[in-house]
Amino acid sequence: MNVLVIGSGGREHTICWALSKSPKVDKIYCLPGNGGISEIAECVPIGVMDFDAIVDFVDSHKDIELTVVAPDDPLAGGLVDRLEAKGHRAFGPKANAAIIEASKAFSKYLMKKYGIPTANYEEFNDYDKAVEYLSNAKYPLVVKADGLALGKGVIICNNVKEGLQAIKDMMIDSKFKDAGKTVIVEEFMTGQEVSILSFCDGKTIVPMVNARDHKRAYDNDEGLNTGGMGTFSPSAIYTPEIEQEVLNNIILPTVEAMNKEGRTFKGVLYFGLMLTDEGAKVVEYNARFGDPETQVVLPRLKTDLLDIFNAVVDGTLDKINIEWTDEACVCVVMASAGYPEKYEKGKEITIGDIDKDILLFHAGTKKDGDRLLTNGGRVLGVTALGKDIHEARQKAYANVKKIKFDGAFCRSDIGIKK
Ligand code: AMP
Ligand code: GLY
Repeated sequence: MNVLVIGSGGREHTICWALSKSPKVDKIYCLPGNGGISEIAECVPIGVMDFDAIVDFVDSHKDIELTVVAPDDPLAGGLVDRLEAKGHRAFGPKANAAIIEASKAFSKYLMKKYGIPTANYEEFNDYDKAVEYLSNAKYPLVVKADGLALGKGVIICNNVKEGLQAIKDMMIDSKFKDAGKTVIVEEFMTGQEVSILSFCDGKTIVPMVNARDHKRAYDNDEGLNTGGMGTFSPSAIYTPEIEQEVLNNIILPTVEAMNKEGRTFKGVLYFGLMLTDEGAKVVEYNARFGDPETQVVLPRLKTDLLDIFNAVVDGTLDKINIEWTDEACVCVVMASAGYPEKYEKGKEITIGDIDKDILLFHAGTKKDGDRLLTNGGRVLGVTALGKDIHEARQKAYANVKKIKFDGAFCRSDIGIKK
């Protein structure tokens, strides 16, 4: 079977890599892809939001039997709907279900209505009302832009001044464009965070092995929030007891809630959880594989990923047994100096003699003849499997040292926390 993957990051490289291991996959196309993906897939320079060109591409490539839509924007924008309307098979939620990520106002409404544990909140469309509320609120609290904002639309505010600045940035100065017209003001929660990705065909939901992300740019969780500077799987904090509690109180009720709302979810549903003293609570939902969680979860998957994608699309997830290795996995992201703010692109990357069992997932890279150049903030995810986190961590960092580009930086503490 030939498959098309939409996207260009480390997550998409990992998905392409996992698909390339399937004996049933003949050829992979990727739009637009990146330098690493181009070694295992045919990359075509069509942007993920150029829906007309994507639909034309699938129409004119009769050999493509499945399109995997990986990033949030095209899912929220309805690319799966567009492909299905033309009779094509697509993996990912339709727009009316992808809203679980695309609108925090919707996800908070859903959780409140169906009693799914999450932080208490207020929603504001009116700036003056938000000012009044934030002037009298108890701090710290969290101000969130309603819409998609590259993970940057969440501001933790320690006092009135910061609270008022956050809503001014969002509602008056349109820092996140329309995404910040509506804001959510949330109770501040404390606890450890864990990411649970799951396959869902609308009826059956199968959680994957857990992962932990490192969102801040620098060691000890200092610096700005990023798309994710590294991950590991599994985490010991996600005990079997917590896993059961999350399944019963969060995962299954979410699938049921979406069905009751007439928004059946098919694809990967991602639960960003905080383990608080009052139990696990939802911080956010994503309607897709997480990045860089995917980089440490899919290497642990024993089952053929194509079979799982097909089962999700066909609604037969209950018929397959999804298996995982007991190994641990660590991914260290190498980023460009300045990320997540201003950074330069086009720096030459040299990759020394890296160990054969290292998985080098490319994020922001591109080929220039024989040269490999940086092409984004997050550049590479150096990923290693090991018998435990310690071994995987040692292997990943030993190989990070062999990769060089001007301005490269990474966190040195991925895989240290529990
Ligand atoms: P989100 O984009 O909603 O996942 O938020 C980004 C990050 O902000 C999360 O991973 C948390 O670390 C933090 N965060 C979001 N909401 C809260 C909250 N209510 N309390 C404490 N931290 C939060
Ligand atoms: N790593 C978090 C995300 O993909 O949103």
